[in-house]
Amino acid sequence: MCGIVGYIGSAKAAPFLIKGLHQLEYRGYDSAGIALTQPETGRIEVFKAKGKVDNLERKLQQAAGEAAAFTVGIGHTRWATHGEPSEQNAHPHLSGSGELALVHNGIIENYQLLKEQLVELGYTFQSETDTEVLVQLIDYFYQKNGKKLKNAVSQALKKTIGAYAIVVMERNNGRHLVAARKASPLVIGIGQDSSEFFIGSDATPLIEHTHKMVYLEDEQIAEIRMGHELEITNLDEIVAEVSVKDVDLDISALSKGGYPHFMLKEIFEQPQCIENCMRGRVVKQADGTYDINLSALHNFKAKLIRARHVIIVACGTSWHAGLIGKQLIEEMCRIRVEVEYASEFRYRNPVIEKDDVVIAISQSGETADTLAAIQLAKQEGALVFGIVNGVGSSIARETETGVYIHVGPEIGVASTKAFTGQVTVLTMLSLALGRALGTVAEDKFQQICAGLVEIPRLMKQVLKQNDAIANLASQFTYAKNFLYLGRGYNYPVALEGALKLKEISYIHAEGYPAAEMKHGPIALVDKEMPIVFIATHHQLYHKIISNMQEVQSRGGRILAVVTEGDTDIQKFAHDLLEVPDIINCLEPLLSVLPMQLLAYHVAVKKGLNVDMPRNLAKSVTVE
Ligand code: G6P
Repeated sequence: MCGIVGYIGSAKAAPFLIKGLHQLEYRGYDSAGIALTQPETGRIEVFKAKGKVDNLERKLQQAAGEAAAFTVGIGHTRWATHGEPSEQNAHPHLSGSGELALVHNGIIENYQLLKEQLVELGYTFQSETDTEVLVQLIDYFYQKNGKKLKNAVSQALKKTIGAYAIVVMERNNGRHLVAARKASPLVIGIGQDSSEFFIGSDATPLIEHTHKMVYLEDEQIAEIRMGHELEITNLDEIVAEVSVKDVDLDISALSKGGYPHFMLKEIFEQPQCIENCMRGRVVKQADGTYDINLSALHNFKAKLIRARHVIIVACGTSWHAGLIGKQLIEEMCRIRVEVEYASEFRYRNPVIEKDDVVIAISQSGETADTLAAIQLAKQEGALVFGIVNGVGSSIARETETGVYIHVGPEIGVASTKAFTGQVTVLTMLSLALGRALGTVAEDKFQQICAGLVEIPRLMKQVLKQNDAIANLASQFTYAKNFLYLGRGYNYPVALEGALKLKEISYIHAEGYPAAEMKHGPIALVDKEMPIVFIATHHQLYHKIISNMQEVQSRGGRILAVVTEGDTDIQKFAHDLLEVPDIINCLEPLLSVLPMQLLAYHVAVKKGLNVDMPRNLAKSVTVE
C-alpha cells in the first residue's frame, strides 16, 4: 500500500526522499509527493505528481528552485482509498492555514463525521481524502493550543478512529518532525550522533543510511529533532522507552517486503488485508453484538431490497469469488443469483430486468469484458454494484455504487489476496442485505460475524503450514495433470486451486465438484495423478469420503485439506493439510490458502517465474 519517507538533518532532503520513494515502489502506488522545508525560511514547498515517482522527480528538477537544497522533508507514495488517484488527492496534504504538512498511511474511519465538524468550524477542503481531514483536525488543535505541534497531534489522534502512520511537518519550526502510528507501521532510523534521522513506512529506504532503528508502537508519538535524542510518548504524552534495534537486512529482499516473490508476500499479507477490508464495516457494538456497516448498502437499500434477481459478472479469479458470492447471497438473502463470465454475458443478449442488481467483481477494475458487461447492464436499467480493489478505476467509476475490498495493490499476476478480499466483501454484503430483508436469523448473523472477525487470526494459523507445503510441493513437480475436488462452498475453492496451479506452474489442472468426478474425470485417475480433495467437516463430509475411496481404489494420489484434528481421512489420503474449524460459509477464506501455497511452491520448485507467468497479464484491458 502507500509508502512514507521522511528526513531531517544537514544534507539535502530531496535526494533521500526521491530515492526512498523509488525503493518503496514495490508496495504499489498511483501518485507521489514530497514537502520540503528549512528551519530558517519558514515556508513549506509541496511537489506532487500523478503516476510514477519519475514524474515527481522531473517536476522537482524543473520547479524546486532553492527548495532543492532544503534539509527537512517528508514524502509519500499513495494508493488511493478515498478519492481517485490525482495530484489533488496525493500527499503531502497541507492544512488550510498552510502551517502544517502531513503524510499518512492507513484509513481514518470516522473522517466523514470529523469533516462535517470541521466544516462547521469554517474549514474547507481541497481533496476527497481522509488524510486532509486529519491535517485540518491537527491544525484545529494547533491553533487552539498556542501552536504546540506534538500536543495538537495527540489531541487529534485521540479523536480519530482507524489506522494511521503519519509524519507532520511545521512551517515555522522546521527543526522538528512529529510522527505517530496505529496499526500501520512506521520506523525511524537514527543517524550518527542523532545528527540526522530517516523515517520510513518500512526499513527499505533507511537501511543504506543506518542500522539503528526504532519501530514505533501503536499509539506512540515521536518528536524528531536534529541533534537531539528521539522522544517518544503515548497519546497522553507520557514518556515511553525508546528501544533502538540494530537492524541488518538484505536490501534486495526488502524490495518485496522480505519475501522472495510478490505472490508469497501477498499470500502472507492476507490476515492484514482482511482486517483492513473489515475495518469500520464489521463493528462490535457496546452490548457485544455485531453490526455490519456498508455505506453502499445504506445508500441504495431500497433498490437492493427490491432485487428479485442478482447477476454476478466477472473474469478469472474474481469469477470464482462470484461463485462463492452466489451461495452466500442465496443462503442469506434468498435471492436467485446467476454468475456469468463477463465475456459471455456481454455477447449473449442476456435477460436483464429493471429490478435486477448486477454485481461486477474485479481486482483491477479495468478488465475490458467486465466493463462491457457493466455498460450493457446499465443500458438495460439494472443497478450496477462494484466489488473492486482499484480505487478510481474504470469499473469503480462506471458502477453506481459498491464496496472497495481495500487489500492494497496486488502485483503478482496470480491473484491471491484480492480473492479473499472479494469473498470477505461478498460475505459482509450478503449478511447485511439478509438482515435488511429479514432472511437471515439474528443468531446466525451474529455467529458468522463473530467468525469473520476471527479469520485474520485463523489465516495466520493456516499459513504456518508453509514449510510443510513447500516440502510437499517437491513431490509434485513431475505431475502433468492435477484434479481439485470440493463441494458446496469449497467447490469454487477447488476451481481456484486448479487455476492457481495452471497459471504459475503450467501443470494442467481441473477443478470439479467432487460428486461430478464419476461423470468423467475419474477416467483420468491413475498412480501418476495427484488429486486434491477439500474435505472439511461441513461440506457433505461423508459423501466426500466416498468420493475419496473411489479415487483410492484406482490408485490416485490424494492430498486432502481437512478440518483440524480430523484423523479419519488419514486412511485414504497420502498427505493432509489442516484448516481450523469454522462455520461452513467462511471456509473458503481459510481453505484457499493451502491451494495458493501449493501452487506457489510447485512453481518455485520448477524454477518458474512465479510473479510474471508466461502469456498472462495482470490487468486484461483488451477483449
Ligand atoms: C487476469 C488476471 C487474473 C484475474 C483476471 C480478472 O486474467 O491474471 O488474476 O483474476 O484477469 O481480473 P480482474 O482485475 O477483473 O479481477
